[in-house]
Amino acid sequence: MKVLVAVGSKYGATREVAKRIADQIATHGFEVDFRDAGDVQGIHYYEAVILGSAVYGGLWRRDASGLLKAHRDELRTKDVWLFSVGMETVVKPGQPLDESDSFAREVAAHEHARFPGALDYEKLNVGEKALIRALNPPKGDFRDFTRVRDWAESIAGQLEEIAIS
Ligand SMILES: Cc1cc2nc3c(=O)[nH]c(=O)nc-3n(C[C@H](O)[C@H](O)[C@H](O)COP(=O)(O)O)c2cc1C
Repeated sequence: MKVLVAVGSKYGATREVAKRIADQIATHGFEVDFRDAGDVQGIHYYEAVILGSAVYGGLWRRDASGLLKAHRDELRTKDVWLFSVGMETVVKPGQPLDESDSFAREVAAHEHARFPGALDYEKLNVGEKALIRALNPPKGDFRDFTRVRDWAESIAGQLEEIAIS
């Protein structure tokens, strides 16, 4: 079974999460391609797609959401999992977490997982620094690679069942 793991990431924290997912699924013998979402030309080759993005201002990165929107109908015919990486404390009270729950419904994803990300204040541009100063979320690396690996394992288990059915 051919599997695509595609990701939208600005500063690399989410890319590393996606790479761990791809590597973990590959240990089960699946043929896994790992790509930045903007580099994906088409998805017809794949039977399963795992698509994720960092969240900025409640939105997925545009390369990831663009890939999903461009292939919405085709994705509905495949086995799809979505994941979002973010620091939920950046979200203002009352604001929806992000747009990706509706994405999960649109492509009939098996699941949409959320993982904590990483925030390196020094890397941010001037506008981002101003926003982060105002919202003052915790800074640092909050990624939980054990949780990420467990999620990838559960996907691999489901793919194994799909492959024999
Ligand atoms: C300007 C800015 C806005 C952000 N907005 C959100 C947000 O709305 N929701 C959220 O969960 N995380 C938000 N985050 C946190 C990022 O999603 C988190 O730092 C993520 O790990 C970045 O991933 P990347 O390194 O792959 O780009 C924001 C971070 C920055 C710098």
